[in-house]
Amino acid sequence: MAEEPYPYNFIDKVLISEEQIKNRVNELGEQISKDYASSEKLLLLGLLRGSVMFMTDLMRRINRPMTMDFMSVSSYSGPESSGFVRIDSDHKTNIFGWDVILIDDIVDSGLTIYTIKKLLLDRKPHSLRTCALLDKVDRHKIEIEIDYCGFEIPDYFVVGYGLDLDEKGRNLPYIASVDLNKIPKA
Ligand code: IMP
Ligand code: MG
Repeated sequence: MAEEPYPYNFIDKVLISEEQIKNRVNELGEQISKDYASSEKLLLLGLLRGSVMFMTDLMRRINRPMTMDFMSVSSYSGPESSGFVRIDSDHKTNIFGWDVILIDDIVDSGLTIYTIKKLLLDRKPHSLRTCALLDKVDRHKIEIEIDYCGFEIPDYFVVGYGLDLDEKGRNLPYIASVDLNKIPKA
């Protein structure tokens, strides 16, 4: 039997290899370690579930005292730019006075990061920055800049390294584009 190249048949091609991700995550970890060299209250706050693989690799490269927490959110974006973000599960830490880095897997319209950032600022952290593995800059519908960005990518739907298509594909160690003609019917 011929071996399938990918474990999911909706995959088109690998966009970012395991090696490229590893190198970039190392760089981001070094940068964050430098930028927070004088902070004793660094908190990585990840958005579930897409950011898990990225965040757990990134934190291994941060050579500073730190803690981790998570939030779970769902975003609904309608056909127009309107949309809203629902908090399904909030973080446990009181972030007052903490240096928070909000981490997501990918920025598309920007609505999720923008909304959560605004909400967290109301909770008075000492500082707040954003970090995302991937950024589809051409898709932003809102003015937003990511402080720590892994890779800017064109407008592909991608899976792997935590990112999913209907919960599938998170386990892939690389980032791959999806062939929209091969998406399984629900
Ligand atoms: P935004 O609020 O439009 O920026 O959407 C961000 C969220 O949409 C991310 O946290 C992902 O869960 C999801 N998302 C956007 N693009 C992709 C993609 O290409 N693959 C997987 N998930 C995506
Ligand atoms: Mg997400």
